[in-house]
Amino acid sequence: MIFKLAACAALVSLAVIPVKGVDHQVTVGGTGIIAYNPNQVTAAAGDTVTFTFMQKNHTATQSTLQNPCQPVAGGFDSGFIPVADTTTTGFPNAVFTVEDTTPVWVFCRQANHCQQGMVFAINPGSNFAAFQAAATGNSTASTSATSAPAASSTAYPGSTTPTSSSPQVHQVVVGGTDKLFYTPSNITAAAGDVIMFQFQQKNHTITQSSFATPCRELTLTSTSGQVGFDSGFMPVAANATTFPTWNLTVNDTSPIWAYCRQAGHCGSGMVFSVNSVESGPNNFAAFQAAAEQQNGSTTATSSASSSSGTTKSKASGASMIQINRGAGIAVALVGVVVGSML
Ligand SMILES: *[C@@H]1O[C@H](CO)[C@@H](O)[C@H](O)[C@H]1NC(C)=O
Ligand SMILES: *[C@@H]1O[C@H](CO)[C@@H](O)[C@H](O)[C@H]1NC(C)=O
Ligand SMILES: *[C@@H]1O[C@H](CO)[C@@H](O)[C@H](O)[C@H]1NC(C)=O
Ligand SMILES: *[C@@H]1O[C@H](CO)[C@@H](O)[C@H](O)[C@H]1NC(C)=O
Ligand SMILES: *[C@@H]1O[C@H](CO)[C@@H](O)[C@H](O)[C@H]1NC(C)=O
Ligand SMILES: *[C@@H]1O[C@H](CO)[C@@H](O)[C@H](O)[C@H]1NC(C)=O
Ligand SMILES: *[C@@H]1O[C@H](CO)[C@@H](O)[C@H](O)[C@H]1NC(C)=O
Ligand SMILES: *[C@@H]1O[C@H](CO)[C@@H](O)[C@H](O)[C@H]1NC(C)=O
Repeated sequence: MIFKLAACAALVSLAVIPVKGVDHQVTVGGTGIIAYNPNQVTAAAGDTVTFTFMQKNHTATQSTLQNPCQPVAGGFDSGFIPVADTTTTGFPNAVFTVEDTTPVWVFCRQANHCQQGMVFAINPGSNFAAFQAAATGNSTASTSATSAPAASSTAYPGSTTPTSSSPQVHQVVVGGTDKLFYTPSNITAAAGDVIMFQFQQKNHTITQSSFATPCRELTLTSTSGQVGFDSGFMPVAANATTFPTWNLTVNDTSPIWAYCRQAGHCGSGMVFSVNSVESGPNNFAAFQAAAEQQNGSTTATSSASSSSGTTKSKASGASMIQINRGAGIAVALVGVVVGSML
């Protein structure tokens, strides 16, 4: 939790945008209300959307136009924010920073709230009605357990903040059409947390390596006989709509370095870290640079030195949502808005 709060401070500073935009206020729920009000806003890059959570127990969770009631991998999620019926002041809020004018689709993960039409959108254009209809058209309960982080047990007014609160599940998307990277590519996690890697299009792995040799299996390089984890190859068809997952348990807070074993991928920067110390020399960027240097961008087994231009793709459009609970403790989650590439 200490790490999480520290990371939060860093994220908050990153989220500061030079020209301050408009803040759009949205209330979530309330006694007898299963809705966001308003249910849509038109916003510009740099604007913020402040969700104020009223009575009951709701979320603001990113989905897609196609699947309004399903969390999108890598999207933002406030987690459940319960508010007692007797609450009259100090309602918690979550602030979402708008990165660009791409539509952002949001729903409430609670029970069947989405199916009752509890959806919200930023810049939906003319598609809001279709989005809401798709949500209510589904009588099937959503897989509400998927990716549920245990955020609701932390930092809630009146409760103590146990450092050993239930473990979080971090979602990381591996690959995808034209995406030779992990999204997000580096995360902070507590001991006991689980990282759920969701493999998208192509054929990738998540394989443990070391900071010194980013593109080789730890199992092969360890001088102490350490066995590194390896998901194995997870081929996913170009037309796939469901994606296999592979879970990794974080056992302590020491840095974890990993890469994709598929030919050429690591050399083009497809690496991942957990708990890298971003303020020191062994940071994620240095690790990625070492991967590109050691394994080049040529597909064959690398013989060092100059190679053709690296078309390095990076996830961008990272957005942040900051949650301010009544007690004034902030927790931040990073979400990545689907796909823009360099
Ligand atoms: C409706 O539910 C089905 C089955 O859970 C799911 O595959 C589909 O994506 C859902 N549709 C919408 C619009 O959420
Ligand atoms: C809020 O809702 C979630 C999901 O239904 C549930 O797990 C959690 O216990 C609820 N919290 C409270 C305080 O009711
Ligand atoms: C990176 O280069 C090393 C040394 O040539 C090689 O052993 C390793 O297999 C390469 N890794 C990948 C993922 O190609
Ligand atoms: C996935 O990649 C591995 C390594 O390149 C290869 O052996 C395997 O056949 C591939 N699987 C598919 C289905 O393409
Ligand atoms: C994906 O394409 C393959 C052949 O290219 C086809 O056999 C399969 O039915 C397709 N799957 C879906 C879900 O469209
Ligand atoms: C990974 O963990 C998630 C969340 O607990 C679970 O839904 C999923 O089935 C797990 N995947 C595997 C392959 O065990
Ligand atoms: C944590 O421990 C489990 C069980 O020993 C192991 O499978 C897993 O790879 C470990 N996680 C890491 C990040 O090393
Ligand atoms: C590592 O993650 C942090 C937090 O998500 C992000 O701000 C930073 O840009 C990442 N570093 C690199 C080199 O991608």
